[in-house]
Amino acid sequence: MNGALVLDAPAKLNLGLQVLGRRDDGFHELVTVFQEIDLLDQLSLFPASEISLQVRGLPVPEGEDNLVMQAARLLADELGGSPGARLVLHKRIPAGAGLGGGSSDAASTLRGLNQLWGGGLEHEELRRLALRLGSDVPYFLVGGTALGMGRGEAVCPLPDLPALAVCLICPEQELSTPEVYKKGGFPLTVVRNYNIMNRFAQYALSGKGLDELVRNDLQEAATEMLPAIDEWCARLRHQGALAAALTGSGSAVYGLFPDAVAASKAAESLGTRTRIFLCSFRSGRTSGT
Ligand code: C5P
Repeated sequence: MNGALVLDAPAKLNLGLQVLGRRDDGFHELVTVFQEIDLLDQLSLFPASEISLQVRGLPVPEGEDNLVMQAARLLADELGGSPGARLVLHKRIPAGAGLGGGSSDAASTLRGLNQLWGGGLEHEELRRLALRLGSDVPYFLVGGTALGMGRGEAVCPLPDLPALAVCLICPEQELSTPEVYKKGGFPLTVVRNYNIMNRFAQYALSGKGLDELVRNDLQEAATEMLPAIDEWCARLRHQGALAAALTGSGSAVYGLFPDAVAASKAAESLGTRTRIFLCSFRSGRTSGT
């Protein structure tokens, strides 16, 4: 397609999320295990004289509010001059679901435009720009399975986990991340005895303890705002999920199954009135950028 560059922008799950406390800057200190899944947006980048964005698929704003536009402007400022690009985003990842779709689109925009414009920025420079766009954006420069600390932006790659099948339920109602954190009413004091890494190691080494790993400290607050969240988790477990939890600040919940057949049977039994995606874990990039 005459000079187009096409990149995937995958969604993520949080396989467990512990909130350690509220910080002075208004964010929360957390520890989480990010896991990339193969529910994908797709970004096509074409050479052009000006920066523009078209969105296809799910409806999201095409203007300057879109993180793709913000990422493009940020990188253009960083590189100087006035480079252009026509960006076409095929949107499949629901917004307001805790799946990181907008953050992933932003990370793919930084990577793609750095390549299209010959920017030559290294991973650390892209990471610095990514953090200005959102707490989860640096993770999407790495992908795969990764530990997230700080606001979620301090990312350390972890070994791949066995590729489980995912039954993902995305309620129509979106949840606002700041509102869920606020509802959580977390104290200022930072808790230091987090145990998510022990749980990750336990599961990675023995294949046991997945249900303890996936616990999400935001689930209680999110369920107060949308009671169906706990019900969906219970139904997924009832259908044979090895574990089920909220991702990020919701509203999506996921069930993890040993294989695609089991995940698809669970999806059938849940009925067709809800938006359900069947997907699986994806490995990270090896290049780093
Ligand atoms: O960084 P991001 O734009 O994703 O954050 C959106 C909002 O979510 C923040 O303004 C904040 O209210 C909340 N948040 C938080 N602690 C985090 C990440 C996000 O309180 N670690």
